[in-house]
Amino acid sequence: MDSWAGFKSYVTHLECSATGERYAAGQPHNLSKAGKPLLVRYDLPAIARAVTRDDLLRRDPDFWRYRELLPVPREADVVSLGEQLTPLVSLDETSRKAGGGALFVKDEGRLPTASFKARGMAVAVSMAKSFGIKQMALPTVGSGGASFAAYCQRAGIDAYVFCPDDSPPVTMSEIAFYGDKFFAVKGALEDCNRLVAEGCEQRGWFNISTLKEPYRIEGKKTMGLELAEQFGWTLPDVIFYPTGGGTGFIGMWKAFDELEAIGWIGSKRPRMVAVQTTGCCPIVRAAEQGHKEVQTPWPDVRTKVFGVRVKKPLGDYLILRVVYESKGFGSAVSDEDVDETRAAVANADGVMLSPEGAACVAAYRQALKDGKVTKDERAVVFNTAIGLRSPMGTVKNYIDPQKGVDYATL
Ligand SMILES: Cc1ncc(COP(=O)(O)O)c(C=O)c1O
Repeated sequence: MDSWAGFKSYVTHLECSATGERYAAGQPHNLSKAGKPLLVRYDLPAIARAVTRDDLLRRDPDFWRYRELLPVPREADVVSLGEQLTPLVSLDETSRKAGGGALFVKDEGRLPTASFKARGMAVAVSMAKSFGIKQMALPTVGSGGASFAAYCQRAGIDAYVFCPDDSPPVTMSEIAFYGDKFFAVKGALEDCNRLVAEGCEQRGWFNISTLKEPYRIEGKKTMGLELAEQFGWTLPDVIFYPTGGGTGFIGMWKAFDELEAIGWIGSKRPRMVAVQTTGCCPIVRAAEQGHKEVQTPWPDVRTKVFGVRVKKPLGDYLILRVVYESKGFGSAVSDEDVDETRAAVANADGVMLSPEGAACVAAYRQALKDGKVTKDERAVVFNTAIGLRSPMGTVKNYIDPQKGVDYATL
């Protein structure tokens, strides 16, 4: 383990993402007075003076190597389950068949609790520990609950988790396995949101819902930091990201801005593609119509891709701003396309994706067809969670050795 000896926090303040109003660091925050997400700001010139890209090479291969660009004030506050850097795995055969070029999947299923949620939760729970918070609550459609519960157990914090009872049974059992404050709710995510808000008010729990506290974005930012380092301090041409609440989308863009400000990358940015499914695509629709925010919440969510089941993200204007600034676009794929793509990638490249990851590959294939991406470009898709939690189909072939085997037919 490398040491944080001599480390000091570079956080200067927090800022309302809508009005720019400043808030003091060093104390817990939820939304700004305007009811909008807060963003963490750093003394970037001081970071540029304090640390170099080469310094990172002497540090452990986990995301705490970027500690100057993270808000956790002391090593003693770090709540870690081993957040190793996730690999970029090439999908050569998948891309070749689609007539594409260099295509990589950043496989976030390798993280603790088997999803990218570990990034946000590791940082947000570490911050909660630094503030002495003892009880927190989260509404979730799935994988976020497992990460939240695991990191809270490690930190000695009570984790109240509320999840719609039609979420995948394996995810609900997984969350319940970490502790007894898990509740399957007869209702939708919006009902869970309400229960969390009421519980926070009545019992003083801290609300750690997506974008309702500022530090999960900082954790998700590490996806962008890692990507830049893995690409030799350049960036890919285009990034496909399964977008629900948009924490990762917003976080990565923030990472690129901060990296440029400290002089570690140049001004070239990837086009950012917000991937959703046709059964819930409020961001894609808003982007197509050039809106700054989602006009009406998605009325009827019909998709098995749980990560994108968000009717109107709280940070919709931040997600859309990234789409426009990056000259990216939104892409909605069907659940059928997701299933077909997921099987095709496993077959072609030996990589099992989550439905969210497969949605990104489906969107990549579509973008090639539409001419929105060319084969000369380097593309990265995010596989945000392990594939093993999602249905894998049934076994087709059985053998009874007692009856003899005709090997020619196998
Ligand atoms: C597997 C998976 N992928 C993607 C998402 C969407 O992530 P974000 O909130 O960063 O848009 C989620 C959120 O629940 C998820 O569970």
